[in-house]
Amino acid sequence: MPPEQPTVASLRASTEQVLGDASEARWICEVAFAHRPLTDILHETVTERMVAHLDAMVARRRSGEPLQYVLGEWSFRRLDLAVDQRVLIPRPETEWVAGRAIDLALAVDGDRRVVDLGTGSGAIGLALADELPLDGTSVWLTDADPAALEVARANLAGIGRAARNVTISEGRWFAALPEGFRADVIVSNPPYVAVGDPALEANVLDWEPAHALFAGPDGLDDLREIIAGASGHLRPGGWLVCEIGSDQGAAVADLARSAGLLDISVEPDPAGHDRMLVARSAQ
Ligand SMILES: C[S@@+](CC[C@H](N)C(=O)[O-])C[C@H]1O[C@@H](n2cnc3c(N)ncnc32)[C@H](O)[C@@H]1O
Repeated sequence: MPPEQPTVASLRASTEQVLGDASEARWICEVAFAHRPLTDILHETVTERMVAHLDAMVARRRSGEPLQYVLGEWSFRRLDLAVDQRVLIPRPETEWVAGRAIDLALAVDGDRRVVDLGTGSGAIGLALADELPLDGTSVWLTDADPAALEVARANLAGIGRAARNVTISEGRWFAALPEGFRADVIVSNPPYVAVGDPALEANVLDWEPAHALFAGPDGLDDLREIIAGASGHLRPGGWLVCEIGSDQGAAVADLARSAGLLDISVEPDPAGHDRMLVARSAQ
């Protein structure tokens, strides 16, 4: 008798057993089985190629690789983004930072220019392009890392019509923008972890790109540069929104004051941790 062919149901059960996590097993199986809802195909048999794909993903997950990289995709606000080891995995708290930038940008009348500095996968900037009105909005996505921008470009292709408003530019912070360019909203989730921070989880350290995480001995090197340069790249009354570490609120508020920014606030994330600097340039 020929060996029994595996079904989606049997493979999902064995994946769940190996990983010990029903949700992860479901996500991994859905990606392996062509993104079809598992409940619709439980009794179907699968191709050898799908089984090989599933086995490879399970092996990667068992080796400790983050689920998001194994899946090769992760959701951010309304978007499904491609992610791999070239970019930081977009975090839930960053969805909330993007939401704040979107609200500030929505209040701008007419020609609206927004910039996401250090875009990585494109998460924040593409959410802005996706959620702001198409007419009158232009969105800039920048990063110093050309490999990250390859991922952002792939994700740009996935946002449809809104992509026509987006420019991707490589360079260090403000150097990626054209001479004399000024924006209404600059948003950034820059590296803000102190080198050697013992609180950083091992799987983040082992798998995510170091240049997306670390910013000098106090984690403030990049925030210093961005905050100092913001006024010179914002339109009068324009907004700077930066994600920060939970212990950096007082320091970034001081930096913003020294840089001449106004209406400075340090805002907590939904978990109650300081997570964002919001400040505006003078009128
Ligand atoms: C914390 S990650 C954020 C990625 C993405 N914005 C997000 O929120 O998921 C920081 C990003 O800043 C980029 N970066 C680091 N140093 C930079 C610099 N000097 N100029 C521009 N981008 C930089 C990194 O390549 C990385 O993509």
